[in-house]
Amino acid sequence: MAQSYLTKFAYQTLQTSKGLAGLAHKGISSKLMEILAPSAVPNLEPLSRELLLELRRSVEALEKLDWLEAEEGIYPKAQLFEAPWLEWIGRYPLVWLDLPSTWERRKSNTVHDIPEEIDKDQYPSYYLQNFHHQTDGYLSDHSAGLYDLQVEILFNGTADAMRRRVLAPLKEGLENFRLRKTSCLKILDIGTGTGRTLKQIRRANPKVELLGIDLSSAYLRQANRTLNSGNYPLTQLIRGNAEQLPFSNESMQAVTCVYLLHELPKKARQNVLNECWRVIEPGGVLIIADSIQMEDSPNYNVVLNNFEKVFHEPYYRDYINDDIETRLYESGFENVTNKSFFMTKVWIAQKCQIQDD
Ligand SMILES: C[S@@+](CC[C@H](N)C(=O)[O-])C[C@H]1O[C@@H](n2cnc3c(N)ncnc32)[C@H](O)[C@@H]1O
Repeated sequence: MAQSYLTKFAYQTLQTSKGLAGLAHKGISSKLMEILAPSAVPNLEPLSRELLLELRRSVEALEKLDWLEAEEGIYPKAQLFEAPWLEWIGRYPLVWLDLPSTWERRKSNTVHDIPEEIDKDQYPSYYLQNFHHQTDGYLSDHSAGLYDLQVEILFNGTADAMRRRVLAPLKEGLENFRLRKTSCLKILDIGTGTGRTLKQIRRANPKVELLGIDLSSAYLRQANRTLNSGNYPLTQLIRGNAEQLPFSNESMQAVTCVYLLHELPKKARQNVLNECWRVIEPGGVLIIADSIQMEDSPNYNVVLNNFEKVFHEPYYRDYINDDIETRLYESGFENVTNKSFFMTKVWIAQKCQIQDD
């Protein structure tokens, strides 16, 4: 009992520290930008005191649930503390060193500053951009090395807590296959990036076969370092387009898709959902986690508007007004539900139900 209180206290302290570190980083970097690159400063709407308090309460609710689900055994408590801390400390100075080129791109509205050696024919045109004004877009080891840290800072240390919201519905979804050997089940994560979501999934489902697909070789190299060490089954990482998944029909029992949809144009978004439906076995589940949308909380609209002003997110406005539920039904999914956790909305969609005998 005492140990559990202590662990909970350690978790809360860690989250508070990450939150403060994120706020401090953003505060100092904004001040620096005002001094060194004033023309890059975006024209943001101020957040009211009430909104800041509401955001704070929303983070607290997220962290309370994160702890509760660990206590319930959906994932181990150790996972709440897991991060490549030493690696992140080593890379943190690079985040600062990268800021001036980010400001420069924002100032000059340069959004196609992609490494020259990249074979552009290998990618859809919407992908060849500096999402978030990121150096090299998604197309270099430099970008992949900074990504996780940048996302942690953006969400004030709550990114993994938000990603973990896919774990409970995933476990519940896989229950439909409880009569099968766990090692025969497959979960595919699309737009897997550096593998943070797969890492969360693996700790919660150590025996299930995991696969990840992404367009970026550099991000997959980083994911490979993160995932394929230790005594777990090998995670298969495949470079490819989620609009044309290189897997046969009905070959996956579950698919997850975290923070991908908001980076896709409308047509690609629908193609991806159609492909998810195709590769999922009947009885299986698709779980999507992405930004909350305009309809979710009118109070948060100012935060969503500001996000779009700070980061180059060419399809974000279309996404936050998109009806993902209807898209899921159009793809063939059933029983679509959704719920929001701080800045993340999670959709659960089933591919027809298996009837219990
Ligand atoms: C915002 S990141 C999210 C990464 C990861 N899921 C996470 O939770 O951090 C979006 C990822 O989607 C990938 N991506 C974008 N368009 C894609 C596509 N059409 N097919 C496969 N991956 C894509 C990018 O390379 C990037 O790694």
